[in-house]
Parts: sequence; structure tokens; C-alpha cells
Amino acid sequence: MKTVLITGANKGIGFETARQLLQKKFRVILCGRDAGRLQQAVSDLGAGDLCLPLVMDVGDREAIRRGADELRTAGIPLDVLINNAAVLLKEDQSLSTQAASIHDTTFRINVFGPLEVVRQFLPLMRAPGRIINLSSGGGSMTDPVGGWSPAYCASKSALNGITRQLAHELQSKGIVVNAVCPGWVQTDMGGSGAPRVVRKGAETPVWLASEADGRTTGKFFRDKQVIPW
Ligand SMILES: NC(=O)c1ccc[n+]([C@@H]2O[C@H](COP(=O)([O-])OP(=O)(O)OC[C@H]3O[C@@H](n4cnc5c(N)ncnc54)[C@H](OP(=O)(O)O)[C@@H]3O)[C@@H](O)[C@H]2O)c1
Repeated sequence: MKTVLITGANKGIGFETARQLLQKKFRVILCGRDAGRLQQAVSDLGAGDLCLPLVMDVGDREAIRRGADELRTAGIPLDVLINNAAVLLKEDQSLSTQAASIHDTTFRINVFGPLEVVRQFLPLMRAPGRIINLSSGGGSMTDPVGGWSPAYCASKSALNGITRQLAHELQSKGIVVNAVCPGWVQTDMGGSGAPRVVRKGAETPVWLASEADGRTTGKFFRDKQVIPW
């Protein structure tokens, strides 16, 4: 049986990715920062022992270290790691004038969080393994700047850079690392006006975790197709 760990999976795209991967017979380590919300999500999934909760705030390096220790103690190896958790703060309007705390928080959770999750959980991964980073078209260096949520968009550009560097570093260990833009999706982050339902938003992360060619690495995907960085 394959095991996947998904961060920020108590709702939205992470939750739906967990639901679809459970249907594909994965064991899912469902992560969230709030124990109550996480337990509710585990219970909503109704998958019994196949879905295990792991409380982990990805903005807190010590919490990530404790999470990895917990899994190590339980003797659970990982085949797939999905860095899904992220924030888009409503105050994020102007890099040049907004409080520095807004980009500090955004980068702590969206950039240093996923990187630390990889660093701490990598020793638990077995080869061939897959790491999937939830990015955004907003982080693209080839598309024009959209003029919205600049710290969030820059954080996703940084995550894309980290994806490429880790892909290069981990290739010799048999672990592929790719990034995904899920499109604009109806979640708490995307809002109700988004054109995509959450099932569609989870489609490419689920495919990368399961059916996609396990040799492709260091790429950026949308709708199961490679897109420019
Ligand atoms: N929705 C879109 O249109 C869209 C577009 C492009 C990319 N994305 C990306 O897709 C991913 C999922 O987004 P979504 O739309 O599903 O967002 P969402 O509905 O806001 O869900 C985000 C999830 O991340 C969790 N989270 C936030 N900060 C965390 C932290 N410090 N530690 C642990 N968990 C944390 C949230 O937990 P709480 O419930 O505790 O807050 C929640 O479970 C994100 O990486 C996002 O940037 C989304």
C-alpha cells in the first residue's frame, strides 16, 4: 500500500486530494494545524485506519520536526508528500507599502514551510518517491504580473524555484519533485466566484501522486500538462 502525506488537508484542495487518493487505495496522513478541524475532516472522510490525522502547523519548524518524529515512531514510511498548505492574506495588497509582517507570514507558511516539510520528512520517504508542491499561476515568471496579492504570488515564484532545486538534488535518490497550478478553484481561498470546482482543482495533484510518469521531475503542471515557469 502507498502512503501519502498532505499538508493543510482539513479543507479545500488538500481535503479533496485526500478523498480522491483514498478512493485509489492510498493510506493518507491528513495534516492540519488545528486538532479539532483536522479530526472533523478525518471523520468526514470516513476511511477508518486508512486516514490518520497529524497535527502540524507548517509555519512552525518545531511542529514540523515533531510531526516527522511522530510518523517515525509509528514506523510509517512515505511514498508521496504533497505540500498543499498555504495562506493568501487579505491585507496582501502592496509589497512596497504593506506591513512587513504580511510578507513574513506569507513566506514562512508558503515557502519555508514546504521546504522544512521536505527536509524533515525526506528520511521517511522511500524510493521511488514523489513530492508535489501546490503552486499557482500567480507565481509564474513568464505570465504578466496580475496585480493581485503580491506577497502570495512572489511566495509561489519562490516555491517554484525550490521545486527545481530539490528536483535536481533528489533525482539521484529516486524522488521526483514537481509543482502544480490547480487553476482558480472554488475554495475558501479561491472564493465562490472561481470557475473551477474543487474536484477539478485536485485532479492534477492526484494524477501526479498516482498515474503520472514517475520519472518526470522539476516541472510545473496545470491540467496534467507541463506549463512554463
Ligand atoms: N483555490 C485556488 O484558486 C488556488 C489557486 C492556485 C493555487 N492554489 C493553491 O492550492 C493550495 C490549496 O489551496 P485551497 O484553495 O484549498 O486553500 P484553502 O481552502 O484556504 O485551504 C488551505 C489549507 O491550508 C491550511 N493551512 C493554512 N496555513 C497553514 C499552516 N500554517 N499550517 C498548516 N496548514 C495550514 C488551511 O488550514 P486552516 O483551515 O487551519 O486554515 C487549509 O486546510 C494552496 O497551496 C494554494 O496556494 C489555490
